[in-house]
Parts: sequence; C-alpha cells; structure tokens
Amino acid sequence: MGRSIQTILLLSALAVTIRLSWRMGQQYARSTRVQEQLEQSYSQLRELSAALQTIREEERKHIARELHDDLGQLLATLRGDLALLQRQGNNSAAARKLQRGMDELLMSAITSLRRIAGNLRPRALDEGGLYFALESLRHEFEQRNGIACTLDANEEELTLDDDYSTAIFRIAQEALTNITRHAEARKVALSLYRQDGALHITIHDDGRGIAEQDMDKASSFGLIGMRERVWALHGDIAIINDGGTRIMIRLPLPPSATA
Ligand SMILES: Nc1ncnc2c1ncn2[C@@H]1O[C@H](COP(=O)(O)OP(=O)(O)O)[C@@H](O)[C@H]1O
Ligand SMILES: [Mg+2]
Repeated sequence: MGRSIQTILLLSALAVTIRLSWRMGQQYARSTRVQEQLEQSYSQLRELSAALQTIREEERKHIARELHDDLGQLLATLRGDLALLQRQGNNSAAARKLQRGMDELLMSAITSLRRIAGNLRPRALDEGGLYFALESLRHEFEQRNGIACTLDANEEELTLDDDYSTAIFRIAQEALTNITRHAEARKVALSLYRQDGALHITIHDDGRGIAEQDMDKASSFGLIGMRERVWALHGDIAIINDGGTRIMIRLPLPPSATA
C-alpha cells in the first residue's frame, strides 16, 4: 500500500516535471522566436536608415548642382548684362545709382547661392576629393570659431569612392559642429590613417568632455547619425570622455572603396 502511494506520488511528480519542462521549452522557443524577430526588424531598420542616408545625399548633390549650374549661371549672365549697360555712357545719375544697387544685390545673391549649394554638397568633395574637403572644413572651422584645429592625414590614403568620402566628411562635419556647440574646446585634432586594411579616424577635443548620458539622448540625431553611417560601412565607433571628448572610428576598406 505504502509502496503504491509512493509510486503514484513519484509518477505524478514526474508528470508535473515533464509538463513544466515542456512548458518551459515552449516558452524558450517562443522567446527565441521573439528575439529573432527583433533582430530581423533591427537589421531592417539599419538598412532603411542607410538607404535613406544615400537618397538624402543624392538629392542634396542634385539640388546643389542645379543651384550652381542653373541659377548660378543665370545670375552670372545677368551681372554681365548689367555691366554692359553700365558701360554705355548715356545713363542718368539716378540710373547709375540704381545699377550699382542692382549689382550689389546680384553679388550677394551669388554669394548666398554659393553658400547654400556648398552646405548642401561641399564642392571640395567633387573637385579635390576627401583630403581637400577635410582641409577646407578644418580651415573654415578655425576661421569661424577661433579654435585651433589640426588635420593629420595623407592625401593618397584618402583617395576613396564617393560613399566613403561623403560618409567620412559628414562624420567630421557633425563632430566639429558638436565641438562648436557643446565642447568649449581650445584645441581640436583630426587624424586619419590606414592600417591593416582599415581606415582609423580619431577626432579629439580638449573641451568639457561628453557626459555618459549625452551619448544616448533620444532627441538628438547627430551622434546617432554618426553611428549609423559607420555601421552602414561595417565599421565600429567608440566615443569616450578622456577629459575632453575622443571619437574613434575604424572603417574596414574593401579594395573597391579606393577611388
Ligand atoms: N564634443 C563634445 N563635447 C561635449 N559634449 C558633446 C560633444 N559632442 C556631443 N556632446 C553632447 O552630446 C549630445 C548629443 O550630441 P548630438 O547627438 O550631436 O546632438 P545635438 O548636437 O543635436 O545636441 C549633445 O547634446 C552634447 O550634450
Ligand atoms: Mg550635434
């Protein structure tokens, strides 16, 4: 009697254990599935973000070219015509004054157009390549902010295709904008060099240093965009506070990346 009760108890315990493990197995399978789905949508989001970046850059390039080639040419022609008119001596004093005013307006329209087109797509990138574009960026940054900025790089190593050049330029541009806006720095150093088939990029400032909680601010897209650009090119990025702020990026360079 005692033995059979024991057996029954043992069997029921076994049944409960089997049932429990089966349930746990099911739960495990379910959570693995959820995790897989999460990973899949995460990687789709990444691809979407990279595709959007590319579209955005293409559009910017297109608008900049239209502005420069189309509107820029028109304004230059208008200015030429105005100069012809001014040279015809039979103008009244009032007409001459009006023409001088028109010339000044045309000149400032051309300057604005160059600035707007240049912000959309730096001409230096198309005309001189990445090294030249970074050098212009560095120079403008120094002039505008009075903060010393050095560029340690080699033109040959920065001969890269448009995807890489544009991404690296935009990353440097965002980092420098952040330094202007947030860092209170006195010195900035940009360095880019190739080693073991990868490009190593460091941007360092000696400012107040980025705070831990600043790195994941949901509402600011500068650092997020920077990371997305690096990940889209299969690179990695670390941002640390070392008294100032140091951004370190490693971008693997496939042979096709070299222009
Ligand atoms: N070089 C820097 N020095 C100090 N703080 C920085 C620096 N770069 C970024 N930060 C901090 O990180 C935050 C996030 O930067 P970002 O994503 O570019 O957003 P935003 O510039 O629009 O505020 C900034 O708001 C700022 O507080
Ligand atoms: Mg920013």
